[in-house]
Amino acid sequence: MDEYSVDIHKTEQDENQEQPLLERKELTPRQIVAELDKHIVGQNEAKRSVAVVVRNRYRRQQLEQGLQDEIIPKNIIMIGPTGVGKTEIARRLAKLVDAPFIKVEATKFTEVGYVGRDVESIIRDLVETAIRMVKAERTAAVEDQARAAAELRILDMLQPLPNKGKLGTAIGNIFGGPVHEESSADNSEEAKNKEADIRRRRVWLRDQLSKGTLDKELLEIEVEDSSSNPTFGMEGMGIDMAGILGSMMPKKMIKRKVSIGEAKRLLTQEEAEKLIDNEEVTQTAIQRAEQSGIVFLDEIDKIAGGQGGHGPDVSRGGVQRDILPIVEGCTVMTKYGPVKTDYVLFIAAGAFHVCKPSDLMPELQGRFPIRVNLDNLSKDDLRRILLEPEHSLLQQYQALLAVDGVNVEFAEDGIDALAEIADQVNCNTDNIGARRLHTILEKVLEDLLYDAPEQASGLIRIDRPFVEEKLRDVAQNQDLSRFIL
Ligand SMILES: Nc1ncnc2c1ncn2[C@@H]1O[C@H](COP(=O)(O)OP(=O)(O)OP(=O)(O)O)[C@@H](O)[C@H]1O
Ligand SMILES: [Mg+2]
Repeated sequence: MDEYSVDIHKTEQDENQEQPLLERKELTPRQIVAELDKHIVGQNEAKRSVAVVVRNRYRRQQLEQGLQDEIIPKNIIMIGPTGVGKTEIARRLAKLVDAPFIKVEATKFTEVGYVGRDVESIIRDLVETAIRMVKAERTAAVEDQARAAAELRILDMLQPLPNKGKLGTAIGNIFGGPVHEESSADNSEEAKNKEADIRRRRVWLRDQLSKGTLDKELLEIEVEDSSSNPTFGMEGMGIDMAGILGSMMPKKMIKRKVSIGEAKRLLTQEEAEKLIDNEEVTQTAIQRAEQSGIVFLDEIDKIAGGQGGHGPDVSRGGVQRDILPIVEGCTVMTKYGPVKTDYVLFIAAGAFHVCKPSDLMPELQGRFPIRVNLDNLSKDDLRRILLEPEHSLLQQYQALLAVDGVNVEFAEDGIDALAEIADQVNCNTDNIGARRLHTILEKVLEDLLYDAPEQASGLIRIDRPFVEEKLRDVAQNQDLSRFIL
């Protein structure tokens, strides 16, 4: 039965001549790692592993159906201390691969029956993401057409076409303007002139509209009243009650005065909505979620252990049991229809400070065959994190301060000092990885950030003496740095 439904999607796709269903940017593992390298320093093992599983999904999709069905994704657990880039890798990966991706914290979920989100909402959210993705693609595909239709509607409001009656011309048909009774049977010279005038004006207006020169002018249009769409807090139910009720009730239209630019945007949206086949969007999205969806399960270590425990532990084992079928492959009912989770890729991550992956339920461990360790960040790594990533931390602060006319320059020895102190505080107090750089930079730049607007413009050089002077009192004192850095 499932195969049958898959086949249906395929033929629909072929007929519509759409782009291939799944990941379109087929990056090789090497390319994926190279992209990740732009944002994340080190952690090569983890980068390689995620790159390989992502590529494997693409490889699988190239195979014949029978074999495809046999190949299930190899899920990964990323193990590493806090602040070394686990979440960051997942976040960047999501942007790279053009697949539906969601990130959830395992701690958000509770065993069925307890207060909290149920694990099936993971899959519902994944489908929601897929729908948004496909919808955005389809909207982009019809955008030109929708914009032209919207501009035509605005044109008709600004300068309606007179009714031509017997004069009906090809142009009139194309424009299809509203009916105006007065000029109906009037065939006089005067009327013809008037009509020619109107047409000329329309041509001019049309040109102005598409150039955007009128975008600031105001116009009254009718739009759907979105404020009167209560959702009744029904998100947890697989059924879209609010959506069903909403579609049964007549749409309430309100008149709004908006700029022509805004009217173009609103009407383009409305026209695009008419051009998109929602059923096709849903089918494609479900298939994409099933076949290439990626779920990033963060903080998985926080639900490990706790079997037979007390207090807040009581539901941990339960959450694991609930997650298991989803990871193992089951069918989840969503408001768009049933979604199979067999081929969804799961990437889990956790610090595993107090427990080990072996504290997870054996069944669950088995569903995550690939383990990668992320390394602690060394002083040198910290230095590179300050400098190398695209839009690195230092660049961010430079840009922020430049807004107030203060130019900041980070000297080599200043950067050394920042990395050294971060490393030192990480060793002496808690190791919070790269997050330490944020706290330290905030502290070092505190006064500058405060004074910048009043400070006359100028160049400020942040070198070792500057850094040490700002941190002198805190960095030396362990107790103090625990609070401040
Ligand atoms: N290797 C790295 N390269 C560049 N930036 C990093 C690296 N590691 C961490 N960071 C930065 O540090 C911050 C925290 O990293 P991230 O959220 O990935 O931590 P995490 O490993 O998920 O930690 P936790 O276990 O606490 O969730 C982010 O702003 C991230 O950009
Ligand atoms: Mg994290």
